[in-house]
Amino acid sequence: MMSSNAPITVIVEPTPLEAGVRVASEIAALVRAKPTCVLGLATGGTPVECYRELVRLHREEGLDFSQVTTFNLDEYVRLAGSHPQSFRYFMQQHLFDHINIPSDATHVPSGIAEDMSLEAIRYEQDITRHGGIDLQLLGIGHNGHIAFNEPGTPRDSRTRIVSLTDATVKANSRFFESESEVPRTAISMGIGTILEAKRILMLATGEGKRDAVKCAVEGEISETCPASFLQEHHDVTFVIDAAAA
Ligand code: GLP
Repeated sequence: MMSSNAPITVIVEPTPLEAGVRVASEIAALVRAKPTCVLGLATGGTPVECYRELVRLHREEGLDFSQVTTFNLDEYVRLAGSHPQSFRYFMQQHLFDHINIPSDATHVPSGIAEDMSLEAIRYEQDITRHGGIDLQLLGIGHNGHIAFNEPGTPRDSRTRIVSLTDATVKANSRFFESESEVPRTAISMGIGTILEAKRILMLATGEGKRDAVKCAVEGEISETCPASFLQEHHDVTFVIDAAAA
């Protein structure tokens, strides 16, 4: 599956809004073609416009999520889903509460499971039980991380507990009252987990992501830039805005 190494397709849209709408239209096309599809979803500032467009497509064009299953990439350890900065809360606010997806079809790893290692194993098993991810949406960190797979993460990593780098804690502190409130650990799908998705769509916008996009698409494949492992997948599209190009 991963051996054909087709070059990464890069689509440049003029603005972040148009990039988000473009990705939403790709997701919508899959949902229409395969109503029982399994979507891998991401959080962060970048996918907000994409989710807004999916909500619009549901409300105005009847895009039907009733048979769709979703798996999110990651969650902060120690944040309950009711915490406003948790990724579960983000997904409810930006997408799940506004579309007709059954709540038990939306999966976000639990950050408060009693046994977090078991939660990681359970999450992987759940993905497998649903037949794997048809389309994985990704964002990228300034240091080239995908999900919470920081530089140094091996290619064959699976869902597990990870430590965040200072740079990631700092970047994500904009969503918290202060940097000290940002959890330093998370549960995250691994690079190996992500690479098993049948298709991958990366959304990256803004000048600050330009170097990360460059290292991902044309840099040497190495743990230094975790997103560079995407070059080993046979069906990856980057949708970026002009500033990130
Ligand atoms: C976080 C998430 C990633 C996300 C990245 C970029 O750390 N774990 O999944 O892609 O940051 O986020 P943003 O879109 O806010 O720049």
